[in-house]
Amino acid sequence: MNAFSYFSRVSGQAISVDHIFFALTALSAVIAGMVFLLIAVFSVRYRAGSVAPRGRLPKELEIGWTVATFFLFLFIFWWAAANQLGALEHPRQNLDIHVVAKQWIWKTQQPNGIREINEIHAPVDTPVRLVLTSQDVIHSMFLPALRIKQDVLPGRTTYLWFTARKPGIYHLLCAEFCGTEHSRMTGRLVLMSKSDFARWSASQQPSETMAAQGEKLFRSLGCSGCHGANSTVHAPDLSGVYGRAVHLSDGRVVTADEAYLRDSILLPGRDVVAGYKPEMPSFAGIVKEDELVRLLAYLKSLQDKPVINQRGEIK
Ligand code: CUA
Repeated sequence: MNAFSYFSRVSGQAISVDHIFFALTALSAVIAGMVFLLIAVFSVRYRAGSVAPRGRLPKELEIGWTVATFFLFLFIFWWAAANQLGALEHPRQNLDIHVVAKQWIWKTQQPNGIREINEIHAPVDTPVRLVLTSQDVIHSMFLPALRIKQDVLPGRTTYLWFTARKPGIYHLLCAEFCGTEHSRMTGRLVLMSKSDFARWSASQQPSETMAAQGEKLFRSLGCSGCHGANSTVHAPDLSGVYGRAVHLSDGRVVTADEAYLRDSILLPGRDVVAGYKPEMPSFAGIVKEDELVRLLAYLKSLQDKPVINQRGEIK
């Protein structure tokens, strides 16, 4: 495996970011060079007593260079913006790796339950999505070899996507001053070939998948008492809820994504489902961040099971 390197480029995104960076640097160098050259030429040409013509320049010259630089800047804006937006497009099938930041470590967990501290193992040539949240203050996940960075916020879920091309060990850094030991909040991104990754996963022997751990929490926290299949309490059925459109009592329709499910657990009174009373107590302060991601993993796992509606029809 490669040594740590700041200058490795291990994804298509990293290469396009570098192209923009080097093009902007080259353009700045050319313009700075032109300015210095003109200073030198003009100070000789228009020195005191020289007979060089000093009349007005034609107007077209000024219009010309203004328009030319305007289009140049428009092009740079389009190029960089298209690249940034392109990095937000992602395939629906990702390997989801959950990351919880806390002062001053990164806790990560793979879908199959493997937990790591300050380390992310991931396969190359596979779309990976990092699902990020913080347990305390604002952190920032920075993976320089992939040229990607994303703030990690308490009480919110943010994402990073990448498809790496080159196996190796790369830096994983916190890029937001988050307290006295911020500078030591570092780790390793370990990119492996698909077969090495499969071997590594097998050798870790996770006790349970994240979804299975979430299901246990779903019971122990008492969620199943109301949301379970045999419950007599009138609470929304959660099978297949992830990714579905949910009609709320105030007429809004929202998609049950991670953020919605998370808010429903911590702020249940805010987005009440149409036809239900706001009876659920808040679990803020009761469930920890890493428990929340496991609960969400469980709720997501329910989407694969058939959904039975009130008339007993299987959808
Ligand atoms: Cu976490 Cu800086």
